[in-house]
Amino acid sequence: MVKVTICGAAGGIGQPLSLLMKQSNDIDHLSLFDIANAKGVASDISHINTHSKVTGHNGPQEVKEALENSDIVLVSAGVPRKPGMERDDLFKVNAGIVRDICTSIATYSPNALVCIISNPVNATVVVASEVFKKYGVYNPRKIFGVNTLDLIRSSSFLAELIHADPASIEVPVIGGHNGTTIIPIFSQVESAKKLSEEEIAQITKRVQYAGDEVLKAKEGKGTATLAMAHAGARFALKLVDAVANNVTHTECSYISLLADPEGSKEMERIYGQIGYFAVPIELGKEGIKRIIPIKNISTVEFTMLHHAVIELKASIAQGVQFSEDQQ
Ligand code: NAI
Repeated sequence: MVKVTICGAAGGIGQPLSLLMKQSNDIDHLSLFDIANAKGVASDISHINTHSKVTGHNGPQEVKEALENSDIVLVSAGVPRKPGMERDDLFKVNAGIVRDICTSIATYSPNALVCIISNPVNATVVVASEVFKKYGVYNPRKIFGVNTLDLIRSSSFLAELIHADPASIEVPVIGGHNGTTIIPIFSQVESAKKLSEEEIAQITKRVQYAGDEVLKAKEGKGTATLAMAHAGARFALKLVDAVANNVTHTECSYISLLADPEGSKEMERIYGQIGYFAVPIELGKEGIKRIIPIKNISTVEFTMLHHAVIELKASIAQGVQFSEDQQ
């Protein structure tokens, strides 16, 4: 019996994400939660003739039944970035939303694998972790910041440049999930080796600021939702496969390095104590099995990582401070 709950299910990401999760026959119960309109989305999606039962739950009074006994919880609740919006403003609103939802997860589904999509992921994952610590149910192996959108963008943009099939390209993306903290490791990709340093720099920048590309194309009326839903589903369906069929998968995710202290030793030796980082990981039904080391990164990537660490530390401190202020 695999139960997946989506929080923020009626939103721009939540709706297509719910639709994509409904394609899986490994899910027995797809539970859709939002402050409003989750029942409508659930009714619509429930007509799709795949295996899972779909239920909809609106508002705090129904959060218990939405979350109880979940194996996997996807959190895409929150406000998206609006043109001209400061990152701190986005953080303040979404940190509160993530805190409230994670309080409910800690109470009603403390063993679930939790995927945080709500931005800014570099800090909201920290807020989530602090909530689980407060409730005594913290397991760093089970909390994931979803940066899969950066991975699929890296594949697509590289493929476009070298005229290859994007589905055949996998690029590890490490660091964080915002601007220059996003570091696609093109040096690990065979087909990228023919690119000049300048081309790599351009494509790296395109991945880092791809969100702006979408914001502009949608004329300020929307952010990335559809590719994000695909990315979220790609990540979550690996977890579903792990839970339902005991299969081990690999993927990148922004995680607490406490999830694998041994595997993060070398990284912390180079960059100092970071706390959280996007890294390639091995996933199983209990969450993170281990961090997969990346060897032989280029000098340019190494320098970018050093800069990213400074910004990441500030975001992590912001997440911790927010949680301390709530005590
Ligand atoms: P949206 O505004 O269309 O949807 C958000 C949904 O969350 C709404 O349906 C809203 O009612 C719901 N919600 C708000 N507070 C809630 C609460 N306390 N409990 C349950 N539901 C609640 O926004 P969109 O476009 O779906 O984006 C959602 C989040 O995902 C934003 O924070 C955005 O920045 C982030 N995002 C993350 C990406 C990533 O790569 N990780 C990429 C793109 C967006």
